[in-house]
Amino acid sequence: MFGGAVLGALLSQGLHPRAVTRSESRAQVLARQGAVPVVADLACPESLGESLKGAEKAFLVSPMQPDLNLLEKNFIDHCKRAGVRHIVKLFGCVDHGDDPLVRLHLDAIDHLKKSGMEWTLVSPNTVMDSNFFPHASTIKEESCFYASAGQGRCGFVSCLDCAEVAAHVLTTDGHHGKDYQVTGPEAASLADAAQALSEVLGHTIEYVDLPEKEMLEILCSAGMTPEEAEMQVLCHYRLFKEGKATLVTDVVRELLGRPATSLKEFFERNRDAFESGS
Ligand SMILES: NC(=O)c1ccc[n+]([C@@H]2O[C@H](COP(=O)([O-])OP(=O)(O)OC[C@H]3O[C@@H](n4cnc5c(N)ncnc54)[C@H](OP(=O)(O)O)[C@@H]3O)[C@@H](O)[C@H]2O)c1
Repeated sequence: MFGGAVLGALLSQGLHPRAVTRSESRAQVLARQGAVPVVADLACPESLGESLKGAEKAFLVSPMQPDLNLLEKNFIDHCKRAGVRHIVKLFGCVDHGDDPLVRLHLDAIDHLKKSGMEWTLVSPNTVMDSNFFPHASTIKEESCFYASAGQGRCGFVSCLDCAEVAAHVLTTDGHHGKDYQVTGPEAASLADAAQALSEVLGHTIEYVDLPEKEMLEILCSAGMTPEEAEMQVLCHYRLFKEGKATLVTDVVRELLGRPATSLKEFFERNRDAFESGS
């Protein structure tokens, strides 16, 4: 999600960045888009070979999985050896306390800060795209979506806003040592989101709040392991409920000179994904 979006933002500036993927077929798509593809696996950093030579800045994002810290530390070490000056790392600004996901990120961040390279963190609140697109099928088929976040609120941010902030940091100076907490313009509950989507689609979309156990069953029946469901979905809903995701900042306006995307604007922009019959 973030990698492709940041790449898109850089390509739209007329740049031709290198882009790492594990997939040969994805590499061909990236080349057609104008990027310089690098086929490598961060679990085997030697697969990066000489591909980072001459790069000044690098953007680092990795999936929510238990080896996140190892993949990122491998990349940081390789960047250092290749002479990269500055790493922009994707983090997050929901208050995760001391949960496993934040420990993985903090381990990688500590390694980055000790590397001697310049660094910047781009720290989104929960992203609208990854939070709402997975609900598209029940929104289309049942006019509702299921979650276990209670009435908890979140400063949902669009992926595009985060990508444009990251692209700005990658292409301008003065960002070393900063942690940019990127959020949407308001803290909204999932019921508020359902209301915004209802207004855009012109019919009622309901948010159905489920006990966490039932939500876990739905996620597992959709193919997730309990561990994936916990790290990728349930812990986030719990944090909404606990009031740990309400942060709203003005970073989008400060860096990009325009307001952050609201939930309603996001749903309008992506109406086709949620409209039944499309
Ligand atoms: N979603 C949110 O609301 C949110 C908010 C704040 C922070 N975050 C953070 O965002 C991150 C997840 O971002 P995302 O959703 O963009 O992740 P994603 O869609 O899972 O993408 C991860 C990328 O990493 C690449 N990748 C995975 N394993 C790799 C490996 N071994 N070697 C090389 N490349 C590898 C994948 O490329 P290929 O498959 O092409 O190889 C893919 O492009 C997490 O760190 C999470 O904590 C998420």
